[in-house]
Amino acid sequence: MTAGSDLGILKEKLAGTRSLTVLTGAGISADSGVPTFRGADGLWRNFRAEDLATPEAFARDPHVVWEWYNWRRELLAAKRPNPAHDALVELERRVPSFWLITQNVDGLHRAAGSRRLSEIHGNIWMVRCTVCGTVEENRDVPIAIPPACGRCGGLLRPHIVWFGESLFADDMARCAAALRDCEVLLVIGTSGVVYPAAGFASVAKEAGAFVADINLEPTPQSSLVDLSLQGRAKDILPLLL
Ligand code: OAD
Repeated sequence: MTAGSDLGILKEKLAGTRSLTVLTGAGISADSGVPTFRGADGLWRNFRAEDLATPEAFARDPHVVWEWYNWRRELLAAKRPNPAHDALVELERRVPSFWLITQNVDGLHRAAGSRRLSEIHGNIWMVRCTVCGTVEENRDVPIAIPPACGRCGGLLRPHIVWFGESLFADDMARCAAALRDCEVLLVIGTSGVVYPAAGFASVAKEAGAFVADINLEPTPQSSLVDLSLQGRAKDILPLLL
């Protein structure tokens, strides 16, 4: 666990700030029992991303891709937010200008009650029609394969940003503003290797923000942040309130 003095410094920063942006990754949901991508037993240690999470994979075999998402939906359906998610809901309530940027598609921030957020990699409980583009919620577990659009009958896909795809334009504009304007950026539970999110810490830092990260281990961004707290998000975040 991390040094008490660093915890105190960050706690004071958060209490005094009028504008906070938070970036989260799979590590914040690890404490809810959700597998990460690159840790021991991480999804990308057991599956090949290019076979399952690319537009080419879906074009080749939508059935296989949907089977994999059904497996993940089943796994996630039973998971609940943990004290780290709850702490961010409380920070949203306290800090006048707050924005949460998550790379997680599990929907746990929303389930905890976060509202000022961008799910920049999408949400596993949302589907999008490959023909008419309609986006809607679908919580079926399992989803019937192949799923069809209620409006036009076209094939539905997960509303998720796959490798090789661009992030949603609205999210990018909102996130750029949140990174440019924040006094404090908190980076939680991300390995910092997937762009553009991997570049967010340096964007905020260059714009003058105080940047802190919370992770079990150092990441490529740790050397540029002002303060690094090592430990579990669910243990550290409640202590910062
Ligand atoms: P990773 O699996 O790459 O990294 C998870 C990070 O969380 C690691 O740095 C761990 O050290 C840290 N961690 C694990 N447990 C933790 C805990 N209890 N408390 C704090 N930190 C903890 O996941 P991401 O960085 O989120 O993309 O991965 C980024 C993207 O790559 C994902 O959004 C996903 C994946 O391909 C899509 O699904 C589009």
